[in-house]
Amino acid sequence: MLELKFDYADCVAHSEKVVWALDDVMTEGQPLDFSKPFLPADLVRHLDGVAGLDEATRRQLNQIAGNAYLNLFQFVEEYILATMMEHAQAEVFGDPEALRALTRMVDEELKHQALFKRFRRSFDRDFGHSCGVLESAAAVAHEIMSHSPVAVMLITLHIEWMTQQHYTESVKDDVGIDPFFKSLLHHHWLEESQHARIDMLELSKLAGYADQATRDRAVDEYIGILGAFDGLLAEQVTMDLASLESVRGEPLGEALQSAIREAMHQAYRRTFLWYGMTNRNVISSLQKLSPEGAAKVTEKAVAYA
Ligand SMILES: [Fe+2]
Ligand SMILES: [Fe+2]
Repeated sequence: MLELKFDYADCVAHSEKVVWALDDVMTEGQPLDFSKPFLPADLVRHLDGVAGLDEATRRQLNQIAGNAYLNLFQFVEEYILATMMEHAQAEVFGDPEALRALTRMVDEELKHQALFKRFRRSFDRDFGHSCGVLESAAAVAHEIMSHSPVAVMLITLHIEWMTQQHYTESVKDDVGIDPFFKSLLHHHWLEESQHARIDMLELSKLAGYADQATRDRAVDEYIGILGAFDGLLAEQVTMDLASLESVRGEPLGEALQSAIREAMHQAYRRTFLWYGMTNRNVISSLQKLSPEGAAKVTEKAVAYA
């Protein structure tokens, strides 16, 4: 359906080349360095326009957002691995290369979750203040997986291509960020690059069974999931503001709080929604699935830039 130039065997071969061990990336209890920002400037660019923040507070806000960023991946990877377990199960007596690619992907996502949880434990211990992050991953996984299989693959494709693009366009060449945080994102990117391709193979397979009306509906469902995701991002911003106030030890004041809320929410929207919705592989897949749906996504993305 998507006429792809790679197959499951290519994904397995790439996975075998880049695979890493958890302890080689981060050991349990490893201390974190808070002297530099965690997130690249490009992903928090909306905060540049917020006046009244000194450099230390800006860095702390960046680190709070960096912790939330990793938690959001840990959060969404919960449903991705559950979905891919189902896809693997369907291939048990089918294509052995697809089964290998899918089971490796499940194992890698479990390892990524363990890494992000490890990071969060060090962050909570070393940052000095407990920072709130979204916790209801299982409920969100259940909600996402209640959608049609094509819609679930579309949001998965979005998330995994978005991860790729964050690293190649924002993280890789940013020389100002914490080198350990950068290395963590580099290792995640290495393994995510074949996940994004496996998603395209799975989407191609599923969409091949679906009629046009089902494909069009799946794009609408995908847009609906993005809307729900936006609600979660707003919840995360509220927690980030509370974390910043607790680390400063004093209230931010109404005007500053509302300026940060607006800028942070837009930064998250651009990072988690716009990046995926405008990714060329996501767009080209959408165009093949549902040209009408692709146009809707492109139109909606403008508000999230
Ligand atoms: Fe991952
Ligand atoms: Fe992944």
